Amino acid sequence: MISVSNRLQETKEYYFSKKLREVAQLKKQGKPIINLGIGSPDLAPPDEVVEELMKATQAPGAYQYQAYKGLDELREAMCNFYSTHYGVTVDQDQEVLPLMGSKEGIALISMAFLNEGDQVLVPNPGYPTYQAATKLLNAELLYYDLVEAKSWHPDVEALQKLDLSNVKVMWINYPNMPTGEPVNSKKLQELIQFAKSNDILLVNDNPYSMVLTEDKFSIFQLEGAEEVCLELNSLSKSFNLAGFRVGFLVGNSEFVSAVLKVKSNMDSGMFFPIQKAATKALKLNLDWFEAQNDVYKKRRAIVWDICESLDLSVNTDAVSLFVWAKINSEHTAEELADELLYDRDIFVTPGTVFGSNGAKYLRFSLCVSEEELNVCKQRILKPKAV
Ligand SMILES: Cc1ncc(COP(=O)(O)O)c(C=O)c1O
Repeated sequence: MISVSNRLQETKEYYFSKKLREVAQLKKQGKPIINLGIGSPDLAPPDEVVEELMKATQAPGAYQYQAYKGLDELREAMCNFYSTHYGVTVDQDQEVLPLMGSKEGIALISMAFLNEGDQVLVPNPGYPTYQAATKLLNAELLYYDLVEAKSWHPDVEALQKLDLSNVKVMWINYPNMPTGEPVNSKKLQELIQFAKSNDILLVNDNPYSMVLTEDKFSIFQLEGAEEVCLELNSLSKSFNLAGFRVGFLVGNSEFVSAVLKVKSNMDSGMFFPIQKAATKALKLNLDWFEAQNDVYKKRRAIVWDICESLDLSVNTDAVSLFVWAKINSEHTAEELADELLYDRDIFVTPGTVFGSNGAKYLRFSLCVSEEELNVCKQRILKPKAV
């Protein structure tokens, strides 16, 4: 018998990969499911990006292997994006690395920095890939709590009381997913100090910086970040290019070159037309983001109404692509999510997907048209069939 590796036996199939199969099955049976579960932007990417993509498919050499570090012009555009939107200077030769989405970056950073048995601080609730990558490398998970009472930011005092001698990496993600908590620079500055004092690599996963935010944030705006931080960025949500698979890593040259060492052994460069189109996207000005955010604001208002009808509380100061709503009834997140799926044909994500601290929360995606959201609203207002 051919068995899979021990590390894979420890790893569960990604929640959405399993649940979306069930949703597809229900749809096949004729159920008109509306999917508010997943953060895959439905709005069109910029026209000029698609045009550039098509044009570049005809370029000489377009189908050849590409440089591991990406095109110079792509890295330059990434650095200009950092200076234009965040006021952060990044060296295009040494401090930036194009990636196939930030999800790839989570795996590569883990491979570059973790030894078996190292401990990794992972947020609860948080994006599930941090823990999956940690487990796949036989490193040890050390969950830290994010709770509403502390504005979904880590409690540095509580962290300091832990035995941190084996902690190598800490994952953070601000603006935060799933809670939508905006950045609190003061708290993150404390965290940088904490990482510095304890020799911990602090990684900010930052794919939501342009979605419904007032201030555009990068961890490198904060003092001392270049010594201990890496940051992942992504074109998936900022430019409606989730299927394109383009993200990038920013950090000091030593950290970035460690990740490049792993990456150059794992793939052989990004498809040329995708690099050209990504370069185009990164050059767009603020008008692009404002137009997207106007659409998201209208959608969010309908989701807030839906939440009110379901007796869920929301934080109207929250940002990013989701509404994170607190359940006020005795229902668990999974019970309510199942009820919505089976009785109302609405798929939402139970907060438990992101950890036990999500047990009383549901996450609603804004990647659904106003029209469909209004249908959801009607379905919820309609008395349940008995
Ligand atoms: C917090 C967080 N990090 C990373 C990702 C992955 O993004 P990408 O498409 O860049 O791989 C997501 C996607 O939903 C996310 O929510």
